[in-house]
Amino acid sequence: MNADTDYLKEEFFRLYGDRDKEPVLFYSPGRVNLIGEHTDYNAGYVFPCALDFGTTLLVRKTGRHEMRMYSINFPGEVVIPIALNYLPVAKSWTNYPVGVINEFARNGIGAPGMEMLFMGDIPNGAGLSSSASIEMVTAVALNDLTESGLEMMELVRMSQKAENGFVGMNCGIMDQFAVGFGRKDHAINLNCDTLEYRYAPLNLGDRRLIITNTNKRRGLTDSKYNERRSECDRAVALISGHKPVRNLSELTVSDLWMLDKYIADPVVRKRAKHVITENGRTLDAIKALEDNNIELFGKLMNESHDSLCTDYEVTGTELDTLVYEGRKLPGVVGTRMTGAGFGGCTVSIVESRYTDEFISRLGEVYTAKTGLTAEFYLPGIGDGARKI
Ligand code: GLA
Repeated sequence: MNADTDYLKEEFFRLYGDRDKEPVLFYSPGRVNLIGEHTDYNAGYVFPCALDFGTTLLVRKTGRHEMRMYSINFPGEVVIPIALNYLPVAKSWTNYPVGVINEFARNGIGAPGMEMLFMGDIPNGAGLSSSASIEMVTAVALNDLTESGLEMMELVRMSQKAENGFVGMNCGIMDQFAVGFGRKDHAINLNCDTLEYRYAPLNLGDRRLIITNTNKRRGLTDSKYNERRSECDRAVALISGHKPVRNLSELTVSDLWMLDKYIADPVVRKRAKHVITENGRTLDAIKALEDNNIELFGKLMNESHDSLCTDYEVTGTELDTLVYEGRKLPGVVGTRMTGAGFGGCTVSIVESRYTDEFISRLGEVYTAKTGLTAEFYLPGIGDGARKI
């Protein structure tokens, strides 16, 4: 955890007073997905890990009939009266915590009066799940403060529901799951159909993960994300007229002929092709990591990006510049966009000794080509959401 808790406590007391009553601390990470993109809502496989940066929440119960919220990242206090249900407010960060509070209320768990201070060190809108991190830190805190005893899986589902219903982003389960179930130095092999999961040690030897932020802002709800979901639904509807399938992940590369045969729309066909091939690549990549074949893992990451670029069309100039210029540099084992796309970040596996060269040369060429300044993070893999 990076946030300085002494500083945060000081801020908390400055805002809310009463130094005799200590706040309780909770923490929730961001996540990076290594491979398995846009497969979660198609009931496929994903392979994310939790990061060692995230959101810290300090919270204290009060006897009052209101919740006071403040974020170091979005200054300005928000006061919300306790209610039976809550409504979203256009473009406010509070929709993430309030969406979760609303979901608890829908399940008969009313929030107590609270004073809350949030602080995140995940760049917002960068595809590293700052939203899921705020949702999950709120869920873990409410579960604790109300002594509800809900399992982590329940908190994950409730946070996803909050994002779908309250925020209006029709996301799959990957982000909330990775943030909730993350484990230090491990990636999570998650089957999004059955929600069975296994931890895989992330041993990269003398290579490391580098995350690169395009610094192109991307509004997820405004984006084409929800449109991609309906294109996948259309593909399933068309194929299921001929073969009983519930989702695209039931198909494998040996079924690709069906797309040509049953889907007339070339766009929908391409979308389905991405999901089916990506699901296969994800399983192959997980196996490659188990076999300690990092070169193959990197090659599959590259193929994943190509498919997201050509077939799923969720990359764009900024992500493509980072990826295709990055691949020309020495020591780059694999590089691809991560998260929803349309901006946000890439994730790369790079030989450690080439780290500085990667950062300086890619930064330079990226600015020359796009006029934007890329940011580089050297993340560690951390644990999931918890009380501190
Ligand atoms: C976003 C969503 C996830 C997942 C990814 C794409 O991060 O929140 O559910 O669909 O995009 O893999």
